[in-house]
Amino acid sequence: MIVAMIAEKGGAGKTVLATGLAGMRSSAGNRTLLIDADRQGSSHYWAQTRSELRLPPVDSTSLYGEAFARQIAALSSRYDDAVIDTGAGDSAEMETALRTAGCVIAPLQPAGVDVWTMGLVDVRVAAALERNPGLRPWALFNRASANPRNRDEAEARAALQGCAALRVADIRICDRVAFRRALTAGRRCTSIRRAPAGRGRRWRRCTSSPLENLTRTAE
Ligand SMILES: Nc1ncnc2c1ncn2[C@@H]1O[C@H](COP(=O)(O)OP(=O)(O)O)[C@@H](O)[C@H]1O
Ligand SMILES: [Mg+2]
Repeated sequence: MIVAMIAEKGGAGKTVLATGLAGMRSSAGNRTLLIDADRQGSSHYWAQTRSELRLPPVDSTSLYGEAFARQIAALSSRYDDAVIDTGAGDSAEMETALRTAGCVIAPLQPAGVDVWTMGLVDVRVAAALERNPGLRPWALFNRASANPRNRDEAEARAALQGCAALRVADIRICDRVAFRRALTAGRRCTSIRRAPAGRGRRWRRCTSSPLENLTRTAE
């Protein structure tokens, strides 16, 4: 399956999620290709760092524009999974990702301006669904507060209910220094919590499986 990370805003967590997911799939034994479609090249650099540190390798390539659009189908057919990391904002790469992916994840921080940009993403996803009806589009909170008293996420969830195409994942990724360190160290870090089911309920610490389930959900 092809999973793509997209966002209007830079710094939303696309690269952290793309590398983390590619690392997970790869270590689970799936033939996995990480496609860096962002000219900043951070995902590709992450994969190279892994090789240099002799960590279990993750295949990766950098591809943009026309070449990306032309080669994605053939390239991804050689792998069980392809994980695409795109740059911020609307782009030819985002277009290709939306056209070819089975699942698209749009990470966002649960904060005002980040939430506002999701309207643009929602419009892009809604248009993509007309040509790629099998696409499963998720908005996913990243860098969420681990403080259960913090209301930012609840407010952001309420605001996103107006989305026509995007579904809001009930898992969150908290803001952790380990994520920043993992990216530059060629490592993956997956500390994901489920959204609390009710007020006062303790958040359950989860392993990486919710992110896996999110991308596998067959609906
Ligand atoms: N959950 C998180 N906790 C802490 N830092 C994070 C988290 N997600 C992303 N970051 C950091 O935020 C910055 C932007 O993340 P990145 O994945 O590069 O965003 P994008 O690819 O969308 O521009 C990076 O320094 C990254 O390490
Ligand atoms: Mg990035």
